[in-house]
Amino acid sequence: MSPENMSGAVVHVALFPNAGMGHLTPFLRLAALLVNRHCRVTLITPQPTVSMAESKLLSRFHSAFPQVTFLPFHIVPIDASTVNTDDPFFIQFEAVRRSCHLLPSLLASVSPPLSAFVCDVTLISPVLPITENLCLPIFILFTSSALMLSLFSYIPRFIPSISGLDFLEIPEVSTIPRSSIPPLLLLPNNVFAQILFEDGPKLPKLCGILVNSFEALESKALDSLNTGKVVKELAPVFPIGPLVPCEFEKNETEEQSSSSPLKWLNDQSPGSVVYVSFGSRLSLAREQVREIGNGLLKTGFKFLWVVKDKKVDKEEEEGLDEVVGTELMERLKSKGLIVKEWVDQSGILSHNAVGGFVSHCGWNSVVEAAWHGVPILGWPQIGDQKLNAEVVEKSGWGTWKKKWGWWGENVVRGEEIGDAIDEMMKNEALKVKAEEMKVAARKAVGGGGSSEIAVQRLIGEWTKMVSSV
Ligand SMILES: *[C@@H]1O[C@H](CO)[C@@H](O)[C@H](O)[C@H]1NC(C)=O
Repeated sequence: MSPENMSGAVVHVALFPNAGMGHLTPFLRLAALLVNRHCRVTLITPQPTVSMAESKLLSRFHSAFPQVTFLPFHIVPIDASTVNTDDPFFIQFEAVRRSCHLLPSLLASVSPPLSAFVCDVTLISPVLPITENLCLPIFILFTSSALMLSLFSYIPRFIPSISGLDFLEIPEVSTIPRSSIPPLLLLPNNVFAQILFEDGPKLPKLCGILVNSFEALESKALDSLNTGKVVKELAPVFPIGPLVPCEFEKNETEEQSSSSPLKWLNDQSPGSVVYVSFGSRLSLAREQVREIGNGLLKTGFKFLWVVKDKKVDKEEEEGLDEVVGTELMERLKSKGLIVKEWVDQSGILSHNAVGGFVSHCGWNSVVEAAWHGVPILGWPQIGDQKLNAEVVEKSGWGTWKKKWGWWGENVVRGEEIGDAIDEMMKNEALKVKAEEMKVAARKAVGGGGSSEIAVQRLIGEWTKMVSSV
């Protein structure tokens, strides 16, 4: 189906992500998907980015898709003391929001006319009046699970009582214990909580919500969202996931280098390696890092371990010897590979040497593991991650340790970590389920699959909008 109508006008979509690799990556994958369906894409990129990983990914995307229009969005720096957080990514969220008054003049230069505007969930309030003014249909790409989306859309119902809740019951979806509610939502003065509280009630004003999930992974939440069981007047939810990892995400230079993790994996036997990563956003306390090291020494498996010492990659200064400890590093080196750079995670998860994934359960990591059929041992740390871990456990291809707690709550000892890894790596039932999930993920985006149908419906709607102009 071509999105071109009879007069030759073309579907033209603007995409507007917010800070962090977890938000940028799915937006760029969506951009690639739309280009491949012959849509015009304009990408609004907040500048400067917080992390180096983001600017490098953008530059690789730019080289791979020269036909995409880049609109640099120069954000007005804000006084960090006016924002109730010290997290550089949250400060950027707020800075981008406060800069949105610059958007109309930026959009004035865009041609051909836009048929739709897709922004990040953290940008609803500032963007909505602008798109309304331009009569431009507004969508969001929700970068977490449908379960988190149901919690988010239910927010207006529980704001008044949130700090006293023991659990949160989302009708026809799930009952979420207080210990799994994203901790920041229980600190209502935090800037991120304020963004969600302000934006949540506006979900019904959107034209649609794109979510990087699929029927076989989250059928119950998706069905309840789309049949008005969570919130009656919610905008239609389009499950278009998994948004598939793309070539541009790989760095060829890195892959050719002798220290590439993929080269190391080539020398390992199938299913023998546990991959350990806590994503792009998180740095663990050094004591916890060292306990993970002890745990990896204890397992019967080899490992590929991504260590992060600082929240923002530009600030990473110290080497692995300092972070992990010289003596522990020496002992670990004979059993596995430890890296401290951004890695091609999808390349790693697709490698047949990898038999399991110790993951913080950031949603992109979960979806990538599903796509490649890799069992997960979840160790959620912040935000939506316990909800995401719950999605994995419910569908049977992973587990998570509830008593390990949130980031900074406990120090989990190496012994326990090692045992949990062995358990996961030896669990044949998880492998079978993970393989089924992989098949289901590929079916969803294949011909006649549930996500493929959702994408066609979406582009079909956008095409109608072009024709009606
Ligand atoms: C690719 O990897 C090389 C080697 O690590 C690095 O110097 C370079 O900045 C990366 N380039 C991009 C665009 O990601």
